[in-house]
Amino acid sequence: MHNVLVTGGCGYIGSHTAIALMEEGCRVVIADNLSNSDARSIDRIEKITGLRPVLERTDISDAEACHQLFERHAIDAIIHFAAHKYVNESVREPLRYYRNNFVSTLNLLREMQLHQVRHFIFSSSCTVYGEPDTLPVTEESPVKQAMSPYGNTKQVIEEILSDCCKADENLHVIALRYFNPIGAHPSGEIGEIPHGIPQNLLPYLTQTAIGIRECLSVYGNDYDTPDGSCIRDYIHVYDLAKAHVCAMNRMMRKQQKQNYEVFNISTGNGYTVLQLIKTFEKVSGKKLNYKIVGRREGDIPKIWADTRKANEELGWKAAYDLEDMLRSAWQWEQRMQQEG
Ligand code: UD1
Repeated sequence: MHNVLVTGGCGYIGSHTAIALMEEGCRVVIADNLSNSDARSIDRIEKITGLRPVLERTDISDAEACHQLFERHAIDAIIHFAAHKYVNESVREPLRYYRNNFVSTLNLLREMQLHQVRHFIFSSSCTVYGEPDTLPVTEESPVKQAMSPYGNTKQVIEEILSDCCKADENLHVIALRYFNPIGAHPSGEIGEIPHGIPQNLLPYLTQTAIGIRECLSVYGNDYDTPDGSCIRDYIHVYDLAKAHVCAMNRMMRKQQKQNYEVFNISTGNGYTVLQLIKTFEKVSGKKLNYKIVGRREGDIPKIWADTRKANEELGWKAAYDLEDMLRSAWQWEQRMQQEG
């Protein structure tokens, strides 16, 4: 049984991944400072799995607190989610983003050296591809100049991890480049809990459908796409969670081709914002109030993934389609409304 440290494990993707790991028989220690998440995630994880993960309310960007964490727990592998994640906010507050995202990763890497922890999975993003020249993007597609400090932290941390793997052949790292995770756990017990006004499409959309927000703004309908709205490759968060289990098994079973590897994690299918809205209306039976507004600065017109490397080498494939994702997101929004 592996002991896995999940940083940011009370958050949206982290909590789903903790569940997937526990279902696989792993012992999970969650380190979370709860700055953008909720300790009630622990109860929800227990309700779904029947087991309670250990919660350490720790800020891993605090070097001493991070050190104490590794003194208290014997860790076999780390999945590192804890990071600031909003593009706009990162443009306004670059230092806060650089400090938090870099320092926490560097602290973890230092403790890994001290405690001989050799397995690390990094939560990266398709944002590293910037505006791609050709679609779909493969892992060989060039990494482009980052469009935001947030994006830059993902790129530079990938480089740091790659350099560390070159310097130490005993270190094993997989960076997973997520596309657009949406949806909620099939049990309906856990999902995304946005703090404040959502910046991402899905929580804004479901909050509009339930009446918390008045109207969804669609950012642009004059892009070079079939209906003019942007194309993204959406992935069900529980499929994404399972990709982490496959990545961990690959490292533990020594199946990596190199000790630093990257994988695109998504479905490989691109949908426009307007297609997504139509599909949501179909699965929810609700008419969505939306309007077309101007483009959002920094938006990529279209991106979707070539997922063959993950399918073939990780042995992972997305199981849920867009309707499943939207149905579960809607079910979760209604659940949150009921619970107040
Ligand atoms: C961006 C980042 C991603 C990051 C994520 C988290 C890039 C390329 N991607 O994803 O790395 O993890 O933010 O913040 O930098 N939209 C609307 N109305 C809304 C909200 C969004 O029309 O109210 C549209 C956007 O224009 C976009 C799509 O919906 O086309 C998805 O947007 P969003 O959910 O914010 O994710 P990304 O911008 O793709």
